[in-house]
Amino acid sequence: YRSRIHDLMSASPLIPVITIENPDDAFPLCKALVAGGIRILEITLRTEHGLGAIAQLRETLPEVWVGAGTVTNVQQYRAVEQAGAQFVVTPGVTEAILQHGLGSDVPLVPGIATASELMLGYAMGYRDFKFFPAEVAGGIPALKALAGPFPDVQFCPTGGIRRETARQYLDLDNVLAVGGSWLTPREAVRQRDWPLISGVARDSLAELGR
Ligand code: 3PG
Repeated sequence: YRSRIHDLMSASPLIPVITIENPDDAFPLCKALVAGGIRILEITLRTEHGLGAIAQLRETLPEVWVGAGTVTNVQQYRAVEQAGAQFVVTPGVTEAILQHGLGSDVPLVPGIATASELMLGYAMGYRDFKFFPAEVAGGIPALKALAGPFPDVQFCPTGGIRRETARQYLDLDNVLAVGGSWLTPREAVRQRDWPLISGVARDSLAELGR
């Protein structure tokens, strides 16, 4: 599973964390992100439209990775497997989810905020984690500190990261990619301003030199 997580996280250093409020938005919103250079989409299960959007985007945007976020139990993990998700992101860990991820064809990026949670996943073979909620869990200094005891672990921090701080995170050796909702500004989505969404993605990537 490790190489697959690496492949997908190296596909694009920025992972938009997308919550679909209106099912009609899923395709144009994600297409706008892809037009702006985004290659990986995390669709959360925070609304009832998440699951349907994953299935729809797998059909309509076959050129990018489509994964599921905010998966908090095994039942949801199974549902997103069925919907065609190509990866799963969780905000935290349970033994059951970690166990399910090991046996699944759809790789898991488990969320951790502490060394203890990391160790639970590490002991089961996980080496790539989401660091969440990144800013309140210690941000860049915390990731630097975790590199000491866990030199072979890589992170995708999310939670409170902004366009202005993405680069500082990505400059860390143990950060593969960063995620966040700043790539889908709520007001622009509400107004269906897809060119603006493409522009934010393009400019965010350009600022990283990608
Ligand atoms: C997540 O689940 O990764 C976060 O909600 C995204 O964080 P942000 O909204 O602070 O960018």
